[in-house]
Amino acid sequence: MKIQIPKGTFDILPYGTDDAWRLSSLWQYAEEIIRKTAFEYGYKEIRTPIYERTELFDRSVGETSDIVTKEMFSFLDKGGRPISLRPEGTASVMRSFVENHLANYGTVHKFFYIGPMFRYERPQSGRYRQHHQFGIEAIGASSPEQDAEAIDLLLQVYQRLGLKNLKVCLNSVGDATSRDNFRIALLDYLRPHFHELSADSQARFEKNPLRILDSKDPHDKELVAGSPSILNYLTPDCVRHFQELCRLLKLIHIPYVINDKIVRGLDYYNKTVFEVITEDLGAQNTLGGGGRYDGLIASFEGPDLPGIGFGTGLERVLQVMMAQGITPPKPPCTLVYFIPLGEEEKTSCFSLATECRHAHIAAEIELNTKKIQTALQNASRSGATYAVIMGSDEIAKGTVQLKNLETRHTQEVPLNVLIKTLKERHV
Ligand code: HAM
Repeated sequence: MKIQIPKGTFDILPYGTDDAWRLSSLWQYAEEIIRKTAFEYGYKEIRTPIYERTELFDRSVGETSDIVTKEMFSFLDKGGRPISLRPEGTASVMRSFVENHLANYGTVHKFFYIGPMFRYERPQSGRYRQHHQFGIEAIGASSPEQDAEAIDLLLQVYQRLGLKNLKVCLNSVGDATSRDNFRIALLDYLRPHFHELSADSQARFEKNPLRILDSKDPHDKELVAGSPSILNYLTPDCVRHFQELCRLLKLIHIPYVINDKIVRGLDYYNKTVFEVITEDLGAQNTLGGGGRYDGLIASFEGPDLPGIGFGTGLERVLQVMMAQGITPPKPPCTLVYFIPLGEEEKTSCFSLATECRHAHIAAEIELNTKKIQTALQNASRSGATYAVIMGSDEIAKGTVQLKNLETRHTQEVPLNVLIKTLKERHV
């Protein structure tokens, strides 16, 4: 039996796929724009392991969150230690920040990461068991300007990739005091409907009722629609922070809508939370999301520094790009394809191709066929602009045929000027 790819995962290929979003050239293009943009906003790359001790996620993402209760890829390693594939990036960055004493290197720390995350979800379009996130974490600044910067950076990445028709949804989940007050009001509202709630929401009723606002169950959603608004329970400090963020977003011309039901699926948030949604993704309409997590670093026995960040799923971003008909620039490809027509020519072409590569000219060589038509087809498929054809006549004369594969124009070029000619045309 053929071995197949695990459910909910996919290959990213250089060719051979009808799903344009799975082309590696598209990923490279998007990642390049992301890195450049993150750099321009002052973010530096951090890379953490793809697996961590399970406890890290229990304590940060939250023991009652869907991610921890249902979606983690967890196992015991050979030493019997509970390990999980990372379902998200924030917890790992916090662990790394504390463990490496990065607080000693300045007052504000801005990190970005691009990498795979793992969630054991029911796979469907836009939802996978391995997905890739671009995320940022900004540690050390509590002012709303930092929140506005994070939202602006996310939108700037989307804009540079050409995405349109996006909606920014904003909310504040307040601080611990705000949430304690809101919790009482929410429980009072939900209590008469307790038996109508889904099993999951009933289990969360006492432990973490805010999670009920996040329920995917249709009936829970109906009930929650009329629930009190957390925005009416914010402390004065949280109100000020939220109002200031709204003012800053207007100042930098970022339209947003306030949605007081957004709590996000992870437990570490406080104050600002936000999501960017699109109409072009079907059911999985959240392109990216994040929020503030003041207190999280301290909970890992690190310094008591505030933080804010976001994550955006690259699969979803690329799928929206394709749905919106965005055509990325043509990826770089081979410039010249050498076609030797005999064994002696093969050696000469091999040495020429090597010389080209050493001179930064992307070169390919036909090693398998002496049939010129097949070789020319292979040359076109490689995306090469030129074919260099060498047969016994050319060897005798010390020349090659240089064929422009786009114009079909062919020119005889002396061997000793070939590299120079290619270099001139290359620039
Ligand atoms: P999240 O909302 O759980 O946040 O995930 C961020 C983004 O990852 C989502 O908006 C979505 O685009 C993508 N995503 C999540 N799960 C899947 C999946 N199964 N398949 C495809 N894409 C998916 C976080 O992970 C937080 N760590 C974000 C953050 C950073 N908050 C503060 N800092």
